[in-house]
Amino acid sequence: MKTLVTEDQLHDGIRRLAAEIQEHYDSKPLTLVGVMMGSVVLLADLIRALEAPLRVELLQARRDHTKGLGQGPLVIDEDLLSFGVRGRNVLLVDDIFHTGRTLWNLIPQIDDLGPTSVRTAVLLQKEGKAEVALKPDFVGFTIPDAFVVGYGLDYNDRYRNLPYLAALEPDEMK
Ligand code: IMP
Ligand code: MG
Repeated sequence: MKTLVTEDQLHDGIRRLAAEIQEHYDSKPLTLVGVMMGSVVLLADLIRALEAPLRVELLQARRDHTKGLGQGPLVIDEDLLSFGVRGRNVLLVDDIFHTGRTLWNLIPQIDDLGPTSVRTAVLLQKEGKAEVALKPDFVGFTIPDAFVVGYGLDYNDRYRNLPYLAALEPDEMK
């Protein structure tokens, strides 16, 4: 396992990310929609860093990775979304922008619920892996292509608790 982003770098990056979001929305009311489960640690940090009236919602979007990373069907459970979307500025919060297909599929579904705006914030964006014509609006770190764990991101339920980000070696993913 190789450290990719240290704990200090992570804190600095999240502070920078929150400042960009803060500047964009200018303290206007905002709805953060966390894409479970990998985003929950980032979501908790953003909640504490943003100075605006915040509503927080969660939805579940997970991919069946058994056919390879990013290959299986996307399973979206938006039943959890309630009253925080219509007429609101919505910021979708996800852990990683890999192929981009998760957010690409989610945005139209959120749009159908009548928000004022929909933007996206991700902790990480993998370089050169995007398969859709979409760029996340706010990005914490751009990283090389690797399987990343820590700070809420897991591999088979492991490493979620790491306070830093690490890349797994191929022989650690068996
Ligand atoms: P996308 O739809 O290909 O952009 O994939 C995004 C989702 O795949 C993320 O929300 C993660 O749940 C998962 N994912 C992609 N790469 C990684 C990784 O390196 N570590 C952990 N989860 C990942
Ligand atoms: Mg995810």
